[in-house]
Amino acid sequence: MINGPPALVEMLDRNKKHVETYKAPPHLMDVAPKIRDSGNGVMILTCSDPRVNVFEIFGLDSVLRAAVIRNAGGRAADALRSVAILQHIARPGAIVVMHHTDCGGTHIEPGDVKKDLVELSPSDKTTIENTQFGKKMNSIKESVREDIALLKTSPLVDHSTQLDEFKQGEGSNFTFPLDAFWLWRFHVRSELFSYSEHSALNLSRQLVSFLLYSTLTIKPKLPYFANFGAIHINELKAVFYSIAMFDDIVAEGYSLAQHDWRLTALVASVVPFALTYIITSLLAFLAANNKSHSRSPPIAPYAVPFFGNLFAFLFDNERFVRNALGRYARDIPVQFRLANRKLTLISGTSNVLAMFRSSRYLDANEIIIIAVDNAFGGASVGRECYALDNTGSRKEPLPGSRPLKMSDRIWYLQHKTTHANLVGPPLVEIAERFVKCLGEELDHAIPPSQTDWVDVPDFYGLIQSTMFAASTNAIYGPHLIRLNPDLNKDFWEYDHHIPSLFKLVPRLFAPKAYAVRDRLVASVKKWHAHAAEHVDVKDPALEGVAWEEYYGSKMMRDRVVDYIGVANMTDDLRACLDVGLIWAANANIVPTVGWCLIDILTRPALAATARAEISTLSPGEINMQALLASPILQSIYAEELRLRNAIFIQRTPIIDTFKMGPWKFPKGDLIIVSSWQEARNRETWNQRGRDGEEHDVEEFWAERFLVYKDDPLSGPRLVDAAKVKKGGEEVEKVADGEASPPKFAPEKVAGQFIPYGGSENICPGRFYAKQEAMAGMALFLAKFEIELQLEPGRVLEPNKAQFGFGVMGPKGAIKARMRRRKVE
Ligand code: HEM
Repeated sequence: MINGPPALVEMLDRNKKHVETYKAPPHLMDVAPKIRDSGNGVMILTCSDPRVNVFEIFGLDSVLRAAVIRNAGGRAADALRSVAILQHIARPGAIVVMHHTDCGGTHIEPGDVKKDLVELSPSDKTTIENTQFGKKMNSIKESVREDIALLKTSPLVDHSTQLDEFKQGEGSNFTFPLDAFWLWRFHVRSELFSYSEHSALNLSRQLVSFLLYSTLTIKPKLPYFANFGAIHINELKAVFYSIAMFDDIVAEGYSLAQHDWRLTALVASVVPFALTYIITSLLAFLAANNKSHSRSPPIAPYAVPFFGNLFAFLFDNERFVRNALGRYARDIPVQFRLANRKLTLISGTSNVLAMFRSSRYLDANEIIIIAVDNAFGGASVGRECYALDNTGSRKEPLPGSRPLKMSDRIWYLQHKTTHANLVGPPLVEIAERFVKCLGEELDHAIPPSQTDWVDVPDFYGLIQSTMFAASTNAIYGPHLIRLNPDLNKDFWEYDHHIPSLFKLVPRLFAPKAYAVRDRLVASVKKWHAHAAEHVDVKDPALEGVAWEEYYGSKMMRDRVVDYIGVANMTDDLRACLDVGLIWAANANIVPTVGWCLIDILTRPALAATARAEISTLSPGEINMQALLASPILQSIYAEELRLRNAIFIQRTPIIDTFKMGPWKFPKGDLIIVSSWQEARNRETWNQRGRDGEEHDVEEFWAERFLVYKDDPLSGPRLVDAAKVKKGGEEVEKVADGEASPPKFAPEKVAGQFIPYGGSENICPGRFYAKQEAMAGMALFLAKFEIELQLEPGRVLEPNKAQFGFGVMGPKGAIKARMRRRKVE
């Protein structure tokens, strides 16, 4: 039995047990040459502090070994002799210098040690005074660096040895980021070289630590790299470390793959995606922070080579676009790679306005061709008529476009005809007919004789069918629906399938979409044939006739005349093009009116205001001009267009050198703007009401578009209150006592509020659409009392399956009960 501290007794006890199972390791002189030759030996220089458990920290065991040199503080000056001897024996490839927090060396002054010694042995004072104890360690980082420098310069140390710094932190954590990297790096290296078990876990851990490292260290520093002139050494280091980490991941993956075929498969399938994502992320950060005067937009990072962002975009483009815009500053365009196509999303008022102003260099036909090809079915029945026309929609053909005869310039002719016939007297004709037809449709749905409540299982469905019938009769005359009694039902089924058709889902996977599209085309073709039997569109007697029953509006006759001259035009293709017009004329305005009514009816105070406004402005017959001037009705309509419209406005540069600000946009690559995102930009939209209440951009607020003279902060645009105070914002003056009627002011949000697109391609139907909205609200509210019967807790939401294709209707049927109003 040995006397001594209990710990020593315990140690000896444990040693006894150890001896029982102990197997002698290979002889030093046998192992040493192998270690020398491989260069894989590792030497760890660390503190004697028992809290630093080197074996545990690095997982050292009988397989993974390292030579450990310990002294107070783990200082190189004391260790040189041991380093030299161990180097002589095994010539290790690396020396790790590991200091730790809360080290005795950071608390104790060497002078105090000397005092202590002198007290113990006063006779040796001189020797003690002349002995070197170094100086107190200030920071561990500094002490590690000092010792590395010493080892590097010492003649006793082989200069080809890799020297690595490493700091052990509190509670065995490791300081981040530099040291975590080293920890990680050691882990990989030692495992690789000691042939320990390779596991998928290790690989995942390395990937995670790499991603963490690059996110925390590289990302904030990237602005430096973008300005190549200002590269800072630490940033450079960070990139090298990342590359080294990456290299280790590849090496680890490779080793794993050799050990297990399942892992081979796993690694082979994961690595290309991880690699692609990492590389595209780095490139995107560099591009976003580039400061040159002529630069390309960053490409949104993606993981799938070749397909790029295609699947994310097709799967949930709302989220995808939101994320893409959230990634960078608002005014930085973001490019998406959709298989072999590139498109660039631009955002922010100044970019959007710049795009509209640059219409001379931009063409909108590409999307129209895509629509005609797929959504309207043109590709199979006469593509050569329209796909070759790249002359644009202006009278002057686009520079460099094909030399087509004027009569073959289908897009210009179509553009001219719709724009000319949806303003002025032709518009008055259509709008008046619409009002009349809608009144009749509503009277047919719930006749004036019906005084009791009527249950309506699908209130929005009623709006769809009555509005569609009214508008179709107004524009195309009564025979289109008369000849095709299912047209109304077919149209809404077709509208439901529009996303599949636009997204090119093959017929095999969307048979209903194609079937209903083809039915619509056949219906329109039948109507064309019937009209042609009764009317000669070139009959001079029709000159100046705004409407006749067979073709309906003059716009439809003019289209027939336009198409007659187009080479190779077919009856099928004409029908497809008219299906397109029917879609454009209904798909947006009908859901907009639906939302106007729903949001009015679910707010009793607003319903009372709207009804009062309608009965004052338009008592009895519809007074369109008065309704069109109503600030509150216009504001409600505009708010719905802001809130429910998700359309991508698209343009293609027609010149090689097209730029907006510093950003370059290659010829032929699509540029898109998301009306949805622009309408939700909290930096530019006003969310504060006159009452001080907040009206979030995601919420309906009937008065958002109203400006009050006496409230400079009112109106749709966010105004800087401080600037108003200083007089920096333009404010309309109000005379004392002057009443302050609100003004509808959409112009305040030009470039932010773009439901109809812009420039010369702006929607030609916008004036008619507004009249439909006024008449829709007025007739429904004047004729009926309407009670929506929403299930408790139900929040009405737009049907996001239609996201990207215009105004989205409400999701799910809405039950209601309706009865005729006594005073209409
Ligand atoms: C709320 C209602 C409507 C909305 C939100 C809307 C929106 C749009 C948008 C965003 C465009 C593309 C503009 C651009 O590229 O800059 C467009 C084009 C078009 N819209 Fe509308 N629209 C509506 C109603 C109508 C109506 C009622 C008609 C017809 C009667 C119509 C006919 C067209 C046509 C023919 C085009 C293509 C114009 C061309 O290529 O020149 N739209 N619409």
